Amino acid sequence: MSGLLAGKRLLVTGVITDASIAFSVAKLAQENGAQVVLTGYGRLSLVERIAKRLPQPAPVIELDVTNAEQLAGLPDKVREYADGLDGVVHSIGFAPQSCLGGGFLDAPWEDVATALHVSTYSYKSLAMAALPLMSPGGSVVGLTFDATKAWPVYDWMGVAKAGLESASRYLALHLGPKGIRSNLVAAGPLRTIAAKSIPGFDQFETAWTERAPLGWSLTDQEPAARACLALLSDWFPATTGEIVHVDGGYHALGA
Ligand SMILES: NC(=O)c1ccc[n+]([C@@H]2O[C@H](COP(=O)([O-])OP(=O)(O)OC[C@H]3O[C@@H](n4cnc5c(N)ncnc54)[C@H](O)[C@@H]3O)[C@@H](O)[C@H]2O)c1
Repeated sequence: MSGLLAGKRLLVTGVITDASIAFSVAKLAQENGAQVVLTGYGRLSLVERIAKRLPQPAPVIELDVTNAEQLAGLPDKVREYADGLDGVVHSIGFAPQSCLGGGFLDAPWEDVATALHVSTYSYKSLAMAALPLMSPGGSVVGLTFDATKAWPVYDWMGVAKAGLESASRYLALHLGPKGIRSNLVAAGPLRTIAAKSIPGFDQFETAWTERAPLGWSLTDQEPAARACLALLSDWFPATTGEIVHVDGGYHALGA
């Protein structure tokens, strides 16, 4: 098999619809020579149905990233399909409604804790669960939404993403000696289930559509997916702890 990821074995989390960023990553990865194993959360039969839309069949393993038992069992489950992993994609985010849409000052700790567990801590949990399957040259890639700024309506999800960005740097620090990289792609707004759950998300859509220097499509996941592929490939061998912006250039603008 030829292609950017020829021979690479990837674990891709986060497919729930064919609009999921993870779906684009899995599709492009297969088209570029990778073997893909998916994980699914919650509605497994739905994920399996969506997986059938990929160019090649991809097995789906059940994984709730907050479930310690499922995390511990992940290596054995993956070994049923692949003898190791060259890359892991974390494409997971969730925050209870109280944490979004302007609720920053009122969201209770229990809800914030859920947001941080699923969206931040799980990056480390997933990487550690997959570590027994990985070897030098391996790559962990996650998705963020530029957390250097306070955005309207993003609230505690923004805090969770700031934590994710830091966690990726610490993962780079701690897994670097094992030859494993950790990098994030900071995508602009894309119409996915996760995005639609944010009240007021249309503000991002308008801002990006009007201002991104390169222009921005709200329904094209491929640019973000392509960046994930590049970071999973052998073409960034000395890059770790990095955040690649795939946002039409929006992050580079002043107010
Ligand atoms: N859509 C955007 O505008 C945008 C922009 C930048 C970054 N991102 C990030 O991209 C990633 C993927 O989101 P998406 O936009 O493709 O939306 P999506 O709704 O398609 O994907 C989110 C995924 O998270 C999974 N998930 C939620 N809780 C989980 C749990 N406990 N265990 C395992 N999986 C769980 C869901 O099942 C779903 O597959 C997220 O980290 C998101 O924050 C999205």
